Amino acid sequence: MTAAPYVPDSRSLPKLRGAATVCHGCDLWRTATQTVFGSGTRTADVMFVGEQPGDQEDQQGEPFVGPAGRMLDKGLEEAGIDRGRVYVTNAVKHFKWQPRGKRRIHQKPNWTELAACRPWLDAELAAVKPRVLVCLGATAAQGLLGRQFRVTKQRGEPVDSPLAEIVLATIHPSAILRSDDREREYAGFVADLRKVAALL
Ligand code: URA
Repeated sequence: MTAAPYVPDSRSLPKLRGAATVCHGCDLWRTATQTVFGSGTRTADVMFVGEQPGDQEDQQGEPFVGPAGRMLDKGLEEAGIDRGRVYVTNAVKHFKWQPRGKRRIHQKPNWTELAACRPWLDAELAAVKPRVLVCLGATAAQGLLGRQFRVTKQRGEPVDSPLAEIVLATIHPSAILRSDDREREYAGFVADLRKVAALL
């Protein structure tokens, strides 16, 4: 399973986005509404990588437009990071879910799905060439930085990586929404984003 045969040899984001609409590089397209490609300009200085689109992203076809996206936007604003300098995307481009009653419950993508989708992320990185790459949460961080990466221990600290000049990870905004102590988690998230702002 790999998206590789679907990825055009192009650094144009509209071309990549268009080609991704018909990606069948793994099986997740079967139950998802549509591919959710990254969003932002090719001149963005910073790329944020989440896990996969959620329920609302799946329906709207845009990343980070649901509750987690609103939390991300709030944090970016508070940290003074201009949304226009940001490209947002996900490690996996289709929503993985299971039905529970009428609800669609998010399922974590597995390693096979992450690896299958990786060529899209590599193409986005080649097109945008962000100076700073920020992994949001363990799935993106471990997928991009290695299985041994621990967000809880290594968050906010730049790590050596060939993916961008500066690479770091922080918690996923949805972890703030799930937390019993939202205020503390949010403060930590903004503190990490301020480190990103200082690098720009
Ligand atoms: N969570 C993610 O990781 N990505 C999205 O786009 C939305 C929620």
